Amino acid sequence: MRIAFFDSGIGGLTVLKQAIAALPNEEWLYYADTRNVPYGVKPKDEVRACIFSAVEFLAKQDIQALVIACNTATSVAISDLRARYDFPIIGMEPAVKPAVVKNTGKKILVFATSLTLRESKLETLISLLDKRNQIERRELDGLVTFAEDFEFDTPLVQNYLLEKFANTRWEQYQTLVLGCTHFIFFRDMIQALAGNSIELIDGNEGTVRHLVRTVGQKTSAALDSTGRILFYSSGVEDSPARVHRLMALLK
Ligand code: DGL
Repeated sequence: MRIAFFDSGIGGLTVLKQAIAALPNEEWLYYADTRNVPYGVKPKDEVRACIFSAVEFLAKQDIQALVIACNTATSVAISDLRARYDFPIIGMEPAVKPAVVKNTGKKILVFATSLTLRESKLETLISLLDKRNQIERRELDGLVTFAEDFEFDTPLVQNYLLEKFANTRWEQYQTLVLGCTHFIFFRDMIQALAGNSIELIDGNEGTVRHLVRTVGQKTSAALDSTGRILFYSSGVEDSPARVHRLMALLK
């Protein structure tokens, strides 16, 4: 089976990595909208147009399922995408629910892009679940750009995070929700700053579980294509040099 992954950039690779572990015999197509990343700081209509053009491209690639491995894209387009296409479309949203279920009294801090935080999808989810007014929100848009520049564990990133967290009193929080797939690359740095008594949660595992439930029963594609990954950047097949860099992030 051919399963497509879509993200504004490389963040969705963190989800693809877990999906490959769960479904090792499928053929994968990974589409990063590198021409338009970052989505999170752009107006909603502009981002929606980018998503629709990317998914239109993917729809022509004989795919049997699509994972929108991007919280931002999911929040602005998932229902319209599902209405338009016949193949199953799996989306992602910040893992607020598991954070609330595990919560024993302290606060929950949801990190996401500015656009995700502005959208009604997250607001609706939070108002349904946040009965005790424990959830706070914070954008970390800068991490998306760092990730796209393959800038991970560097002093520049460290300084950015230190600045963002300058007035944060960590002892108030029990859980941090990483509500953007790009943020997963910085999990260890955020954990080190927040301290080990705080739990970091993301939506990757839930998304992969949903994908497995959706496609799990169907048989795989021809044997010679199993396990193969095709990489695209905004509709253009990636160069061997970029593929090499992306593959390293899947290790
Ligand atoms: N990776 C995307 C997400 O999960 C957003 C990155 C962006 O701002 O483009 O929200």
